[in-house]
Amino acid sequence: MTQSSYARITVPCTSANIGPGFDVLGLALSLYLTVEVTVYPSDLESDLVRITYEGDGEENMTLDPEVNLVTKTAIYVLSCFDKTFPARMSIHINNPIPLGRGLGSSGSAIVAGVALANFVGNLNLSKDRQLDFILQIESHPDNVVAALMGGFVAGYLRNPAPSLTKEPPVGVGSYVRLGWAQEIKAIAIIPQFELSTELARKVLPQEYVKSDVIHNLQRLAILTTALGQSPPNAETIYEAMQDKLHQPYRKHLIPGLPEIISTITPSSHPGLVGICLSGAGPTMLALATHNFDKIAADAQAIFARQPDGGIDTIVKLLDIVEDGCQCVVDPVEPKL
Ligand code: HSE
Repeated sequence: MTQSSYARITVPCTSANIGPGFDVLGLALSLYLTVEVTVYPSDLESDLVRITYEGDGEENMTLDPEVNLVTKTAIYVLSCFDKTFPARMSIHINNPIPLGRGLGSSGSAIVAGVALANFVGNLNLSKDRQLDFILQIESHPDNVVAALMGGFVAGYLRNPAPSLTKEPPVGVGSYVRLGWAQEIKAIAIIPQFELSTELARKVLPQEYVKSDVIHNLQRLAILTTALGQSPPNAETIYEAMQDKLHQPYRKHLIPGLPEIISTITPSSHPGLVGICLSGAGPTMLALATHNFDKIAADAQAIFARQPDGGIDTIVKLLDIVEDGCQCVVDPVEPKL
Protein backbone atom coordinates (compact mmCIF):
# COMPACT_ATOMS: atom_id res chain seq x y z
CA MET A 1 0.00 0.00 0.00
CA THR A 2 1.39 3.42 -0.92
CA GLN A 3 -1.41 5.66 0.33
CA SER A 4 -3.02 6.00 3.72
CA SER A 5 -6.64 5.02 4.11
CA TYR A 6 -9.06 6.30 6.74
CA ALA A 7 -12.44 5.19 8.06
CA ARG A 8 -14.80 6.46 10.72
CA ILE A 9 -16.95 3.83 12.40
CA THR A 10 -19.94 4.96 14.49
CA VAL A 11 -22.07 2.65 16.64
CA PRO A 12 -25.10 3.74 18.67
CA CYS A 13 -25.61 2.85 22.29
CA THR A 14 -28.58 0.62 23.03
CA SER A 15 -31.17 -0.34 25.58
CA ALA A 16 -32.17 -4.00 25.85
CA ASN A 17 -35.16 -5.95 27.17
CA ILE A 18 -37.64 -2.98 27.25
CA GLY A 19 -39.51 -4.70 30.08
CA PRO A 20 -40.79 -8.17 29.12
CA GLY A 21 -38.46 -8.74 26.15
CA PHE A 22 -35.63 -10.25 28.18
CA ASP A 23 -32.75 -11.16 25.81
CA VAL A 24 -35.04 -10.38 22.85
CA LEU A 25 -35.74 -6.66 22.33
CA GLY A 26 -33.19 -3.93 21.62
CA LEU A 27 -33.39 -0.24 20.87
CA ALA A 28 -30.68 1.90 19.22
CA LEU A 29 -30.25 5.32 20.85
CA SER A 30 -28.57 8.57 19.84
CA LEU A 31 -25.29 8.35 21.74
CA TYR A 32 -22.39 7.03 19.68
CA LEU A 33 -19.16 5.15 20.09
CA THR A 34 -16.78 6.40 17.37
CA VAL A 35 -13.69 4.59 16.13
CA GLU A 36 -11.42 6.43 13.69
CA VAL A 37 -8.82 4.33 11.98
CA THR A 38 -5.98 5.36 9.69
CA VAL A 39 -3.92 2.71 7.94
CA TYR A 40 -0.54 4.02 6.82
CA PRO A 41 1.68 2.75 4.00
CA SER A 42 3.60 -0.28 5.19
CA ASP A 43 6.84 0.91 3.60
CA LEU A 44 7.33 3.57 6.25
CA GLU A 45 10.28 3.16 8.57
CA SER A 46 8.81 1.42 11.60
CA ASP A 47 5.76 -0.70 12.33
CA LEU A 48 3.35 0.66 14.90
CA VAL A 49 -0.25 0.11 15.94
CA ARG A 50 -1.18 3.16 18.01
CA ILE A 51 -4.42 3.12 20.02
CA THR A 52 -5.82 6.17 21.81
CA TYR A 53 -9.03 6.40 23.84
CA GLU A 54 -11.13 9.20 25.21
CA GLY A 55 -14.44 9.04 27.02
CA ASP A 56 -16.05 7.05 29.79
CA GLY A 57 -13.60 5.02 31.85
CA GLU A 58 -10.63 6.78 30.27
CA GLU A 59 -8.45 6.45 33.38
CA ASN A 60 -8.57 2.65 33.47
CA MET A 61 -9.06 1.81 29.80
CA THR A 62 -6.58 -0.69 28.43
CA LEU A 63 -4.83 0.26 25.20
CA ASP A 64 -3.37 -3.21 24.75
CA PRO A 65 -4.80 -4.33 21.38
CA GLU A 66 -5.13 -7.93 22.64
CA VAL A 67 -7.24 -6.78 25.62
CA ASN A 68 -9.18 -3.69 24.52
CA LEU A 69 -12.63 -4.99 23.51
CA VAL A 70 -12.78 -3.14 20.16
CA THR A 71 -9.34 -4.23 18.95
CA LYS A 72 -9.50 -7.70 20.54
CA THR A 73 -12.72 -8.32 18.62
CA ALA A 74 -11.12 -7.09 15.38
CA ILE A 75 -8.08 -9.32 15.91
CA TYR A 76 -10.35 -12.36 16.38
CA VAL A 77 -12.35 -11.63 13.21
CA LEU A 78 -9.18 -11.03 11.19
CA SER A 79 -7.71 -14.29 12.48
CA CYS A 80 -10.71 -16.16 11.08
CA PHE A 81 -9.47 -15.07 7.65
CA ASP A 82 -5.81 -15.73 8.45
CA LYS A 83 -5.16 -12.00 8.62
CA THR A 84 -3.67 -9.64 11.19
CA PHE A 85 -3.78 -5.89 11.77
CA PRO A 86 -1.89 -3.84 9.17
CA ALA A 87 1.65 -3.17 10.36
CA ARG A 88 1.20 0.57 10.71
CA MET A 89 -2.07 2.08 11.81
CA SER A 90 -3.66 4.38 14.35
CA ILE A 91 -6.98 3.82 16.05
CA HIS A 92 -8.74 6.51 18.05
CA ILE A 93 -11.72 5.45 20.15
CA ASN A 94 -14.14 8.07 21.44
CA ASN A 95 -16.67 6.53 23.81
CA PRO A 96 -19.30 8.67 25.53
CA ILE A 97 -21.40 5.56 26.37
CA PRO A 98 -21.30 5.05 30.14
CA LEU A 99 -19.61 1.73 30.93
CA GLY A 100 -21.43 -0.94 32.93
CA ARG A 101 -24.71 0.97 33.13
CA GLY A 102 -27.04 -1.09 30.91
CA LEU A 103 -26.62 1.04 27.78
CA GLY A 104 -24.86 -1.62 25.73
CA SER A 105 -21.30 -0.25 25.92
CA SER A 106 -19.75 -3.72 25.48
CA GLY A 107 -22.10 -4.64 22.65
CA SER A 108 -21.28 -1.40 20.81
CA ALA A 109 -17.55 -2.08 21.26
CA ILE A 110 -17.92 -5.59 19.80
CA VAL A 111 -19.94 -4.26 16.84
CA ALA A 112 -17.26 -1.60 16.25
CA GLY A 113 -14.53 -4.24 16.43
CA VAL A 114 -16.16 -6.35 13.73
CA ALA A 115 -16.57 -3.26 11.52
CA LEU A 116 -12.92 -2.37 12.18
CA ALA A 117 -11.78 -5.82 11.01
CA ASN A 118 -14.06 -5.57 8.01
CA PHE A 119 -12.38 -2.30 6.98
CA VAL A 120 -8.71 -2.99 7.68
CA GLY A 121 -8.92 -6.57 6.39
CA ASN A 122 -10.97 -5.71 3.27
CA LEU A 123 -13.28 -8.56 4.27
CA ASN A 124 -16.41 -7.29 2.52
CA LEU A 125 -18.64 -8.85 5.16
CA SER A 126 -22.33 -8.01 4.78
CA LYS A 127 -24.13 -6.82 7.90
CA ASP A 128 -25.81 -10.22 8.21
CA ARG A 129 -22.41 -11.91 8.11
CA GLN A 130 -21.01 -9.40 10.62
CA LEU A 131 -23.92 -10.37 12.87
CA ASP A 132 -22.75 -14.01 12.82
CA PHE A 133 -19.36 -12.98 14.23
CA ILE A 134 -20.94 -10.60 16.71
CA LEU A 135 -23.35 -13.24 18.03
CA GLN A 136 -20.50 -15.70 18.45
CA ILE A 137 -18.79 -13.27 20.77
CA GLU A 138 -21.83 -11.81 22.53
CA SER A 139 -24.52 -14.40 22.98
CA HIS A 140 -27.38 -12.03 23.88
CA PRO A 141 -28.78 -10.71 20.60
CA ASP A 142 -30.75 -7.78 22.04
CA ASN A 143 -28.06 -5.08 22.42
CA VAL A 144 -25.81 -6.09 19.55
CA VAL A 145 -28.55 -6.46 16.93
CA ALA A 146 -29.79 -2.94 17.74
CA ALA A 147 -26.24 -1.55 17.68
CA LEU A 148 -25.50 -3.16 14.31
CA MET A 149 -28.84 -2.70 12.57
CA GLY A 150 -30.35 0.33 14.34
CA GLY A 151 -33.98 0.99 15.28
CA PHE A 152 -36.20 -1.19 17.44
CA VAL A 153 -35.42 -4.87 16.91
CA ALA A 154 -36.19 -8.36 18.12
CA GLY A 155 -33.61 -11.11 17.74
CA TYR A 156 -32.89 -14.73 18.53
CA LEU A 157 -29.99 -17.18 18.45
CA ARG A 158 -30.48 -20.46 16.57
CA ASN A 159 -28.31 -22.36 19.01
CA PRO A 160 -27.71 -20.80 22.41
CA ALA A 161 -24.19 -19.62 23.23
CA PRO A 162 -22.24 -20.78 20.16
CA SER A 163 -18.61 -21.50 20.89
CA LEU A 164 -15.90 -19.27 19.42
CA THR A 165 -14.98 -21.18 16.28
CA LYS A 166 -12.47 -20.15 13.65
CA GLU A 167 -15.21 -18.93 11.37
CA PRO A 168 -18.81 -19.01 12.60
CA PRO A 169 -21.51 -20.82 10.69
CA VAL A 170 -23.84 -18.71 8.58
CA GLY A 171 -27.09 -17.67 10.25
CA VAL A 172 -26.06 -17.88 13.91
CA GLY A 173 -29.14 -15.84 14.72
CA SER A 174 -31.91 -13.85 13.15
CA TYR A 175 -33.76 -10.61 13.78
CA VAL A 176 -36.61 -8.39 12.62
CA ARG A 177 -37.03 -4.62 12.65
CA LEU A 178 -40.11 -3.49 14.54
CA GLY A 179 -42.08 -0.29 14.11
CA TRP A 180 -41.48 2.64 16.43
CA ALA A 181 -43.82 5.61 16.91
CA GLN A 182 -41.73 8.67 16.09
CA GLU A 183 -43.12 10.73 18.97
CA ILE A 184 -41.68 8.37 21.62
CA LYS A 185 -38.27 9.37 22.98
CA ALA A 186 -36.09 7.68 25.57
CA ILE A 187 -35.04 9.20 28.87
CA ALA A 188 -32.07 7.37 30.39
CA ILE A 189 -31.74 7.92 34.13
CA ILE A 190 -28.20 6.72 34.73
CA PRO A 191 -26.99 5.91 38.27
CA GLN A 192 -23.37 6.77 38.89
CA PHE A 193 -22.34 3.23 39.73
CA GLU A 194 -21.46 0.29 37.53
CA LEU A 195 -23.22 -3.05 37.58
CA SER A 196 -21.63 -6.00 35.83
CA THR A 197 -23.92 -7.89 33.49
CA GLU A 198 -22.37 -11.09 34.80
CA LEU A 199 -23.56 -10.31 38.34
CA ALA A 200 -26.97 -9.13 37.09
CA ARG A 201 -27.40 -12.47 35.30
CA LYS A 202 -26.18 -14.57 38.21
CA VAL A 203 -29.12 -13.41 40.34
CA LEU A 204 -31.65 -14.78 37.84
CA PRO A 205 -33.26 -18.17 38.51
CA GLN A 206 -32.46 -21.24 36.42
CA GLU A 207 -36.17 -22.03 36.05
CA TYR A 208 -39.36 -19.97 35.99
CA VAL A 209 -42.92 -20.67 36.99
CA LYS A 210 -45.33 -21.04 34.08
CA SER A 211 -47.53 -18.09 35.09
CA ASP A 212 -44.56 -15.69 35.03
CA VAL A 213 -43.52 -16.86 31.56
CA ILE A 214 -47.08 -16.44 30.32
CA HIS A 215 -47.22 -12.97 31.90
CA ASN A 216 -44.20 -11.89 29.84
CA LEU A 217 -45.22 -13.60 26.60
CA GLN A 218 -48.64 -11.93 26.65
CA ARG A 219 -47.11 -8.49 27.20
CA LEU A 220 -44.21 -8.98 24.78
CA ALA A 221 -46.56 -9.80 21.91
CA ILE A 222 -48.59 -6.66 22.54
CA LEU A 223 -45.60 -4.42 23.20
CA THR A 224 -43.88 -5.12 19.88
CA THR A 225 -46.91 -3.74 18.02
CA ALA A 226 -48.05 -1.10 20.53
CA LEU A 227 -44.73 0.79 20.43
CA GLY A 228 -45.16 1.23 16.67
CA GLN A 229 -48.67 2.67 16.83
CA SER A 230 -49.13 6.40 16.48
CA PRO A 231 -50.38 8.04 18.60
CA PRO A 232 -49.14 5.61 21.25
CA ASN A 233 -51.58 4.20 23.80
CA ALA A 234 -49.79 4.95 27.08
CA GLU A 235 -51.92 2.70 29.31
CA THR A 236 -51.45 -0.31 27.03
CA ILE A 237 -47.70 0.23 26.67
CA TYR A 238 -47.13 0.87 30.37
CA GLU A 239 -48.88 -2.40 31.29
CA ALA A 240 -47.20 -4.29 28.43
CA MET A 241 -43.79 -3.22 29.77
CA GLN A 242 -44.33 -5.00 33.11
CA ASP A 243 -41.86 -7.84 33.55
CA LYS A 244 -41.61 -10.91 35.77
CA LEU A 245 -38.50 -12.58 34.36
CA HIS A 246 -35.60 -10.30 35.29
CA GLN A 247 -36.51 -7.02 37.00
CA PRO A 248 -37.93 -8.60 40.20
CA TYR A 249 -34.69 -10.57 40.69
CA ARG A 250 -32.47 -7.56 40.05
CA LYS A 251 -34.26 -5.05 42.26
CA HIS A 252 -31.87 -5.47 45.20
CA LEU A 253 -28.98 -4.52 42.88
CA ILE A 254 -30.75 -1.30 41.85
CA PRO A 255 -32.27 0.35 44.92
CA GLY A 256 -35.25 2.46 43.85
CA LEU A 257 -36.20 0.27 40.85
CA PRO A 258 -39.58 -0.98 42.22
CA GLU A 259 -40.60 2.49 43.43
CA ILE A 260 -39.68 4.13 40.12
CA ILE A 261 -41.67 1.58 38.13
CA SER A 262 -44.72 1.65 40.39
CA THR A 263 -44.96 5.40 41.05
CA ILE A 264 -43.97 6.93 37.71
CA THR A 265 -46.98 6.01 35.60
CA PRO A 266 -48.95 7.52 32.69
CA SER A 267 -51.55 8.87 35.14
CA SER A 268 -49.06 10.44 37.57
CA HIS A 269 -46.82 11.67 34.73
CA PRO A 270 -48.68 12.56 31.52
CA GLY A 271 -46.44 11.93 28.54
CA LEU A 272 -44.93 8.75 30.01
CA VAL A 273 -45.73 5.62 28.02
CA GLY A 274 -43.58 3.08 29.86
CA ILE A 275 -40.66 2.61 32.21
CA CYS A 276 -38.24 -0.26 32.76
CA LEU A 277 -34.72 -1.29 33.63
CA SER A 278 -32.38 -0.65 30.70
CA GLY A 279 -30.66 -3.94 29.84
CA ALA A 280 -29.12 -5.48 32.93
CA GLY A 281 -29.14 -2.05 34.65
CA PRO A 282 -28.60 0.03 36.65
CA THR A 283 -29.96 2.66 34.18
CA MET A 284 -33.72 3.15 34.14
CA LEU A 285 -35.30 3.79 30.74
CA ALA A 286 -38.44 5.93 30.58
CA LEU A 287 -40.25 6.12 27.25
CA ALA A 288 -42.24 9.31 26.81
CA THR A 289 -43.74 11.71 24.29
CA HIS A 290 -43.40 14.87 26.42
CA ASN A 291 -42.93 16.01 30.05
CA PHE A 292 -39.36 14.69 29.90
CA ASP A 293 -37.94 16.99 32.60
CA LYS A 294 -40.57 16.12 35.21
CA ILE A 295 -40.31 12.38 34.55
CA ALA A 296 -36.52 12.51 34.80
CA ALA A 297 -36.51 14.72 37.91
CA ASP A 298 -38.92 12.46 39.79
CA ALA A 299 -36.95 9.32 38.93
CA GLN A 300 -33.74 11.07 40.01
CA ALA A 301 -35.40 12.10 43.28
CA ILE A 302 -36.30 8.48 44.03
CA PHE A 303 -32.71 7.41 43.45
CA ALA A 304 -31.45 10.33 45.54
CA ARG A 305 -33.47 9.34 48.61
CA GLN A 306 -32.31 5.73 48.75
CA PRO A 307 -30.61 4.65 52.02
CA ASP A 308 -26.92 5.23 52.69
CA GLY A 309 -26.68 8.67 51.14
CA GLY A 310 -28.74 8.09 48.02
CA ILE A 311 -27.68 7.38 44.46
CA ASP A 312 -26.37 10.12 42.17
CA THR A 313 -27.68 10.01 38.63
CA ILE A 314 -27.28 11.79 35.33
CA VAL A 315 -30.00 12.05 32.70
CA LYS A 316 -29.79 11.79 28.93
CA LEU A 317 -32.74 12.45 26.63
CA LEU A 318 -32.13 10.28 23.58
CA ASP A 319 -33.76 9.70 20.21
CA ILE A 320 -34.40 6.27 18.79
CA VAL A 321 -32.11 6.09 15.74
CA GLU A 322 -32.81 4.26 12.50
CA ASP A 323 -29.18 3.66 11.55
CA GLY A 324 -27.00 1.17 13.34
CA CYS A 325 -23.26 0.79 12.83
CA GLN A 326 -21.88 2.92 9.99
CA CYS A 327 -18.41 2.73 8.47
CA VAL A 328 -17.58 5.75 6.33
CA VAL A 329 -14.39 5.43 4.33
CA ASP A 330 -12.68 8.71 3.51
CA PRO A 331 -10.18 8.69 0.64
CA VAL A 332 -8.52 11.87 1.95
CA GLU A 333 -6.01 11.30 4.67
CA PRO A 334 -7.12 13.29 7.73
CA LYS A 335 -4.66 15.52 9.54
CA LEU A 336 -3.37 13.83 12.70
N1 HSE B 1 -30.62 -9.00 28.02
C1 HSE B 1 -29.41 -8.81 28.76
C2 HSE B 1 -29.70 -8.88 30.24
C3 HSE B 1 -28.81 -7.47 28.41
O1 HSE B 1 -30.67 -8.28 30.68
O2 HSE B 1 -28.95 -9.53 30.95
C4 HSE B 1 -27.38 -7.42 28.72
O3 HSE B 1 -26.65 -8.15 27.77
